[in-house]
Amino acid sequence: MGDLEPIPETSLPSPFDDYFLSSLSPLDFPRMVELYNSDLAFILLKPPYPYTLDDARWFHDNQAHNRFQNYPGTQEVWVIRSKSHSGTLVGICGTHPNFEESDNRFRLGYFLAPEFRGKGIMPAVVTEVLKRFPGTIFDAGAEVGNMASRKVLEKCGFQYIEDGEFEETWPASKGGGVRKLVRFVKEC
Ligand SMILES: CC(C)(COP(=O)(O)OP(=O)(O)OC[C@H]1O[C@@H](n2cnc3c(N)ncnc32)[C@H](O)[C@@H]1OP(=O)(O)O)[C@@H](O)C(=O)NCCC(=O)NCCS
Repeated sequence: MGDLEPIPETSLPSPFDDYFLSSLSPLDFPRMVELYNSDLAFILLKPPYPYTLDDARWFHDNQAHNRFQNYPGTQEVWVIRSKSHSGTLVGICGTHPNFEESDNRFRLGYFLAPEFRGKGIMPAVVTEVLKRFPGTIFDAGAEVGNMASRKVLEKCGFQYIEDGEFEETWPASKGGGVRKLVRFVKEC
């Protein structure tokens, strides 16, 4: 889909205007290795662990720049950067296609570097990103005890699904265990 326009960088609204949304770049690979090998290894199910530069390259080349023609100005991976930190990657918001369910269905995922958590950044990011997906349905899951993640979803208007609890088996290298997750959905 190389014929699509590049996604312009977008600042978040005040008071989060130090942060902007951008696309993944090869310059981010060392930062991704640092972060995915931090506490995130035990929190996020999908990324490989230990995470390597080759994993970052694979993600960049095969997933991060996927585009969705029905939703102009969108991409699969939104990199959150800080202007006052020279554009360093402070987190990622993923809008992953869930087209096996239906062609307007997506799955939301996100994380921030530890030093950027608890400042209200992720609700502002999710609100900004989801504006670009009108008419879609977003699913999201969070570990039962991940109250910060659950609060982000609630702040962004996701609905908690009462009977939606499910289990996932974590790889032993990432802390292991069969963990309970709760499900949230939003119609955008
Ligand atoms: C989840 C995450 C993205 C949240 O983003 P954030 O920008 O830090 O979110 P906020 O600053 O809005 O804070 C989340 C809320 O959770 C609350 N919170 C945090 N830890 C909590 C806890 N243990 N119990 C109860 N509430 C908690 C915060 O007080 C805040 O609520 P408030 O706004 O009412 O004060 C971030 O914490 C993160 O990257 N965590 C690690 C990765 C992760 O868990 N990803 C999601 C996997 S499903």
